Amino acid sequence: MKILILGSGGREHALAWKMSQSTLVKKIYIAPGNAGTELIGENIQVDLDDFNSVGEFVVKKKVDMVIVGPEVPLVNGICDYFLDHDHLKNIQMIGPVKKGAMLEGSKDFAKNFMEKYDIPTARHKTFHAESREGAFHFLKTLEPPYVLKADGLAAGKGVVILNDYDKAIEELTAMFDGKFGEAGKKVLIEEFLDGIELSVIVLTDGKTYKILPEAKDYKKIEEGDTGLNTGGMGAISPVPFADSKFMEKVETRIIQPTIKGINQEGIDYKGFVYFGLMNVKGDPYVIEYNVRMGDPEAEVIIPRIKSDLVDLFIAVSESRLSGKSLEIDQRTVVTVMLVSGGYPGSYEKGKTIKNLEKVKDSILFYAGARREGDHVFTNGGRVISISSYGSDKDQALSRSYQNARLISFDKKHYRCDIGFDL
Ligand code: AMP
Ligand code: GLY
Repeated sequence: MKILILGSGGREHALAWKMSQSTLVKKIYIAPGNAGTELIGENIQVDLDDFNSVGEFVVKKKVDMVIVGPEVPLVNGICDYFLDHDHLKNIQMIGPVKKGAMLEGSKDFAKNFMEKYDIPTARHKTFHAESREGAFHFLKTLEPPYVLKADGLAAGKGVVILNDYDKAIEELTAMFDGKFGEAGKKVLIEEFLDGIELSVIVLTDGKTYKILPEAKDYKKIEEGDTGLNTGGMGAISPVPFADSKFMEKVETRIIQPTIKGINQEGIDYKGFVYFGLMNVKGDPYVIEYNVRMGDPEAEVIIPRIKSDLVDLFIAVSESRLSGKSLEIDQRTVVTVMLVSGGYPGSYEKGKTIKNLEKVKDSILFYAGARREGDHVFTNGGRVISISSYGSDKDQALSRSYQNARLISFDKKHYRCDIGFDL
């Protein structure tokens, strides 16, 4: 079959890498792809916001399945667009329809959903720009740290946690004034959850689900989890504290009611549900839902899936996932992200990446990198994700770090403490 993957990150490279190993696949297109996907399939230029063009490409190339990597096209309704057009409705889409994507697209929607289906999460209140006085008043009744969240998508920047009351008022005002755009003018004020985070991702056909290996990602730019939030600086799977007792709570208290809720709401959900969780003294709470595979979680989870992912995706699309088994590699996988100096703020692009050919014992998943002939250049904030297997975390980490030191480009930055807190 022919497959189209939408996106350009390490996640999409990992998806392409895994799917290309399936005997069911004849050709993979990636839009727009990167320096890594180019070696696996064909990178194509289609505007992901222009569903008409995506549809035309799919018809012209006789694509059978589309995997939607990032959240924006899902929240904008790409799956609904395909379902609504007779010539596209039989294309197998991996990703939820717009209503399902609201679980990520609107934090207020997600909170109401969790409340309705009794899913543990931080207590919260939602305020609109017009009723900002109520927000200021509510804040006064809380103890710091103050957790403020813009309702809509904000490219990972919409959550602000502050200790100082005056700074929190200042931030709230900026949010109400449109700092994160129109959708961000609705703000959630949330109880602070004190614990340790992890990501649990399931693949679902809307009725049943398979729990993929859990992962922990490292979101802050600097060591010791300090500095600004990024898309993710590294990840590890498995997560030692996610033992069977904890995972059973995750399944019964969080995953099962979520899938039940999706069903009861009549949402056509075929794809990934990502649970951003906080482990608070052994009890899991949902911090956020995402409606896609995580990045860099994908770069450690996908290498641990032994089963044929394409076969699983077909089963998802045909609503027969319950008949499938999921085989997991018991080894540890870690990934260390090399980023451009300055990221997540401003940074330069176009730096030559050297020593790629010397890499041993790791898999390179490219993100913001482009290829020109024999040369690869930086082309984004997150540049390359270096994933390694190991019989344990230390072995996997030492492999990734050896290659993190070896690969070079001007102003390269990475965190040296991925997995060290576990
Ligand atoms: P989100 O975009 O909702 O994942 O939030 C970004 C980050 O903010 C999370 O990964 C957490 O580290 C942190 N965070 C969000 N909500 C809370 C909360 N209620 N308590 C503590 N930390 C939080
Ligand atoms: N690594 C977090 C995310 O994909 O949203």
